[in-house]
Amino acid sequence: MKRYTEPKYRTIYDAKENELEQLREKSANSSWKPAFHIHPQYGLINDPNGLAYFNGEFHVFYQWYPFDAMHGMKHWAHAKSNDLVNWERLPVALVPVEDYESHGAYSGASLEVDGKLYMYYTGNIKYGPVERSANQNLAIMDKQGEITKYENNPLIEGVPEGYTGHVRDPKVFARNGRYYMLLGAQRTDLTGAIIVYESDNAIDWTFKGELDLKIEFPEEVYMLECPDFFELNGKDVIVVSPQGLKPEGHDYHNIYNVIYVLGKLDLASLTFEVDHYQELEKGFDFYAPQTFAGKNNERLLFAWAGMGEIDYPSDVEKWAHCLSIPRELDIVNGKLVQKPAKELIQLRKSAKAGDVVLEKAGSIEVGSALQYELELDFTDIDADRFGLELFASENEGLVLEFDRCGQTVSLNREKFEAAFGGEYGFVRSSELKIDDKVKVQVFADRSIAEVFINDGEVVFTARVFPEEESKGIKIFADGKISCKYEKHELAQ
Ligand code: FRU
Repeated sequence: MKRYTEPKYRTIYDAKENELEQLREKSANSSWKPAFHIHPQYGLINDPNGLAYFNGEFHVFYQWYPFDAMHGMKHWAHAKSNDLVNWERLPVALVPVEDYESHGAYSGASLEVDGKLYMYYTGNIKYGPVERSANQNLAIMDKQGEITKYENNPLIEGVPEGYTGHVRDPKVFARNGRYYMLLGAQRTDLTGAIIVYESDNAIDWTFKGELDLKIEFPEEVYMLECPDFFELNGKDVIVVSPQGLKPEGHDYHNIYNVIYVLGKLDLASLTFEVDHYQELEKGFDFYAPQTFAGKNNERLLFAWAGMGEIDYPSDVEKWAHCLSIPRELDIVNGKLVQKPAKELIQLRKSAKAGDVVLEKAGSIEVGSALQYELELDFTDIDADRFGLELFASENEGLVLEFDRCGQTVSLNREKFEAAFGGEYGFVRSSELKIDDKVKVQVFADRSIAEVFINDGEVVFTARVFPEEESKGIKIFADGKISCKYEKHELAQ
């Protein structure tokens, strides 16, 4: 069948003279570019891919469309780091020039096999604006950092019977001496599924069937993207990005959402006994996360700090999105929690600490910055409503508010000149047990805030695009409250 053509399906090799330089220049002076978050120099990035601690270095690959702040021909961009904090941009890792990846090198994950990093990814194939197929491919990185596409790609050509062309995002892992590949898929009845392949050598794959997740997704769930699998504290964990979930109470308010599932995976019967599942993050800009084993085998996660189908204020500057900070996962009281990776302490420069006591309703400014880490301990809580305002000025501010009567916490990003995404609501919220203490940790970086509450029990990621003077950090309450804080300026 004839392949589909559209101007956005071209690679960096097809760039016109000076086109990439001009794009770089146009985006270079944006005051919204993050300092310590992985972000594009120009173009749009989305999912983290192929994450690995390999040969003594951290590697982060990620989806990248170079030519505009839109989704088009996806490349795998590449950054590496010795310490998970200082990142070096490397030449683009995968440029989709082959027939088996004619419309993009889509997402995938990596696994170390025989001292090499096997990077599995989906070759996206389009026959029309809608008609598509997918191939599963392999690229191999050796210890010198050389990346070569496997000569006999695709590893898996096309999609199995019973599924549409939406089969993608391989996650490969080893268990009991065999290799398994999970793929996000769409059944021909247009509902979402995870399918499983098996292999002896990580190269030749046999289709096993569908994973019975034992979760009753509503039938509007039309696709499961980016399945991830790992073991943590004796539990099996699946993290997946279902498309089509509708808002329910405090959950699933983004157009696309992420859930995690704790339980036990049985690969013989392809079943997953579910102990617990829930939405993973409560913020606005969090999707397609992927995990990997860090230096000490701790479970680390990066996510795309962005959302599809929404225009972002930086689009006009020809760049869009960033990744989250690296987060370390743990299971506490039967729930998955996310904390900032320990390595981020290396970013700290000078610190300022203080104690604030609000005797009655009011607010107090504790700092002014665009790029910082903030740790707060609210104690002696007598107020009903209290919280924090970031990127604050007279007209702007990102408001984190705890409601002791309602036992909820919410994040509101409406109050910005460049407010965006309002069609999906400006507020995200979660239930939270609020007694007389609440702990908050924030990483703020020019146009992103990641808020960790009570050691990662509730986490919000929010992009905001403040005016230059909106730098204030304020604590507010409608009654009596005490708060100890420590603010760290962050390097880079
Ligand atoms: C998730 C996703 C993946 C796909 C990639 C394409 O955000 O849609 O399913 O592989 O992005 O960029």
